[in-house]
Amino acid sequence: MRRKLVVANRKMNGSVPGNKEFLEGLIKGTRDCHNADYIVCVPHPYLYQAQAMLADTEIAWGGQNMSRHDAGPYTGSVSPGMLVEFGCKYVIIGHSERRNRGQDSDNSVGERFQAATKAGLTPIFCMGETLEEYEKGLTDLVTIRQLNAVIQQVGIKNLAKCILAYEPVWAIGTGKAATPDHAQSILHFLRGYVILKDVEVGENIRILYGGSMNASNAAQLMSMPDIDGGLIGGASLVTEEFVRICRAANELGSA
Ligand code: 13P
Repeated sequence: MRRKLVVANRKMNGSVPGNKEFLEGLIKGTRDCHNADYIVCVPHPYLYQAQAMLADTEIAWGGQNMSRHDAGPYTGSVSPGMLVEFGCKYVIIGHSERRNRGQDSDNSVGERFQAATKAGLTPIFCMGETLEEYEKGLTDLVTIRQLNAVIQQVGIKNLAKCILAYEPVWAIGTGKAATPDHAQSILHFLRGYVILKDVEVGENIRILYGGSMNASNAAQLMSMPDIDGGLIGGASLVTEEFVRICRAANELGSA
């Protein structure tokens, strides 16, 4: 049985007092929610604060990106070891907001996937097609290309070390979430593809949906059989709303 999982991708948002309020609200709002998992991915400067506030809770925290290098002359970059030093267990890899600005390629996502798992981090590996690709009917082709780039580098068994996230670019930040049926069909397809390569990996890997998930549509989306949770952007900036999503996952989960 795959546990439901809710991940906040706070993107480049927050402040020290704002994070404090959010994390306090989240801790309080999920204190009795033991049937699902919760992760908060904050900008790197706030990892220390996340660690200090979440260390004694069931909520995990993570980075939003990292370098594939361990150390060296890479101005502005953060290494996997640095994330680990601040208690991260997770890191988002291959978010479309980086891919589509030319900061990440299929190949570099694979390299960072390997560097993350080597450091003991669990990648939250994002895939998804642009609006143009969606309209041309290329969703399957694009997501499989992105997925294969990683499988080819790490091998199918190592894919089990990650959490997959399908985030159609056209749904991110637009208020137009995929319908539960549509999201389910894509996630079912992706899971089926992994199952064809390795039944155990495919059946056990957690796959999230992301893109305008909010407190009103979360329960419906997450109740679909292949949707194991959500990767939440905008709705993670409003404490009460994010808590409601976490509580919806908890309701759907089993102890
Ligand atoms: P929104 O929830 O704001 O659409 O963002 C989704 C996302 O990009 C999470 O990584």
